[in-house]
Amino acid sequence: MTHSLAAARTDGGNSRRAGAQIPGSRSRHPDLLSPASTRAGVAAAPPALPPVLKTRDATMGFGLKTVLSSVTLEFRRGTINAIIGPTGCGKSTLLRAFNRMNDRSPTFWRRGSVEFEGCDVSAGTPDPLELRRRVGMVFQRPNPFPMSIRDNVVAGVRAHRLAPRRELAAVAERHLRQVGLWDAVADRLDDSPFRLSGGQQQLLCLARALAVEPDVLLLDEPTSSLDPATTEIVEALLRTLTPRLTLVLVTHNLAQAGRVAGTTAFLYDGRLVEAGETRQILAAPREPETVSYVTGRIG
Ligand SMILES: Nc1ncnc2c1ncn2[C@@H]1O[C@H](COP(=O)(O)OP(=O)(O)OP(=O)(O)O)[C@@H](O)[C@H]1O
Ligand SMILES: [Mg+2]
Repeated sequence: MTHSLAAARTDGGNSRRAGAQIPGSRSRHPDLLSPASTRAGVAAAPPALPPVLKTRDATMGFGLKTVLSSVTLEFRRGTINAIIGPTGCGKSTLLRAFNRMNDRSPTFWRRGSVEFEGCDVSAGTPDPLELRRRVGMVFQRPNPFPMSIRDNVVAGVRAHRLAPRRELAAVAERHLRQVGLWDAVADRLDDSPFRLSGGQQQLLCLARALAVEPDVLLLDEPTSSLDPATTEIVEALLRTLTPRLTLVLVTHNLAQAGRVAGTTAFLYDGRLVEAGETRQILAAPREPETVSYVTGRIG
């Protein structure tokens, strides 16, 4: 297992392969070699794909409160990555930093860098709207828009003018099929989404997020309000999205992290305690706080 992460990193073609690491953490985490150390010849593996998302020494908060301190982490293209940790430790804040959703709060501030494809997300290119198209988000509670089911799916496609009007119906059908919702809604596309079940509404939100063809999907506890059967459907869907997409999934469900995520990062009290292959984090954590969390003693 010691070298599996470095080897797996060279191929983003499998959703369960590892993608997250703490750069520069070689001494504490000998199997989490950063690209820099790989270039320096420490590891014999071929060069890794560059990370899609990256934070470097990122510290952020709201007003006087510091929520995250010096988080350095990266996620590789085409991988599924989980973020876990007790409530209030900063998981959503970290996730929302990647597509500048925190900026909607007037008291939000940040130091250090948060990068998408090598550029700081605050650099202005892409602008926040284009950034959020490319780095999409699905929330804990389904949030359909007050418009028809069909219009929900293509709302972003319309707003970003990604397809001509005559193709919108086909785009809606394609993405409803992708999330497995087509058969359930094909005869009521003009109806309100609020009559759908909670699980169906969440699948609709996933279809809407996918319809704008993002590169990254940020998922903030996307199944926490769903029953086990729908959770299974969503997890199966997530696996089909890689390697085209990179997924970052916040979850309180460790078994879910184990089922879908190649890598897992553990946050505690605003600090990144440990990140690496999910099976290592869950089965053989190195840090005492991680041990306490995965064994249910904290959080
Ligand atoms: N808009 C905001 N304004 C002020 N404080 C905020 C804001 N958003 C989050 N916080 C604070 O930041 C801290 C971290 O919140 P965050 O939502 O990131 O935690 P979390 O790990 O996602 O928790 P949970 O598991 O409960 O969702 C909390 O103390 C929270 O109150
Ligand atoms: Mg949260």
